[in-house]
Amino acid sequence: MSTHDISLTVDGTTEELTVESRTLLVHALRDELGYTAPNVGCESGKCGACTVEMDGDAVKSCTVLAVQADDSDVTTAAGLAEGGLDPVQRAFHDEHGLQCGYCTPGMLATTHQLLDENPDPTRAEIRTALKGNVCRCTGYGNVVDAVETAAERLSDAESSAEPAGSEGERDQRAEPPRPEGED
Ligand code: FES
Ligand code: FES
Repeated sequence: MSTHDISLTVDGTTEELTVESRTLLVHALRDELGYTAPNVGCESGKCGACTVEMDGDAVKSCTVLAVQADDSDVTTAAGLAEGGLDPVQRAFHDEHGLQCGYCTPGMLATTHQLLDENPDPTRAEIRTALKGNVCRCTGYGNVVDAVETAAERLSDAESSAEPAGSEGERDQRAEPPRPEGED
């Protein structure tokens, strides 16, 4: 089995390691480097438990070979906090969107990318973004609430950082109807 020396940055720390050609990124992160936020669920790209951000994109780290992550910048859910919970983590906490430790890290990573790309998503867009993150045991209503709250707080923070007279349009947004049985 051939091996490869790779280097990547994980949660701000430069890591160098030797991996086999077949080693998945999630296994390199967990088993070789000890970053346990990404979890191993299905190992087939279906559950989202292993989701991390890689160079800003949310990826399922069981679908990425470790060698493909060479020279990349990886952020796990644990790495989102800098001296405290980040706004997305805080919103999940406040809205009771935190579920188990297995599915939540992946949901946080997916939410980060969503809000980077679409700072004001509708509830339907939130649901679409999170459709690859599966929870087997509870509902998704509070998760969608948490993503909305995170979006609102990030927008507020951005508005307050803007010059006077450039207030955002967030408050004019219509609340989309909530589908029945969401919770
Ligand atoms: S473990 Fe990667 S998607 Fe399920
Ligand atoms: S799988 Fe995490 S709460 Fe259901």
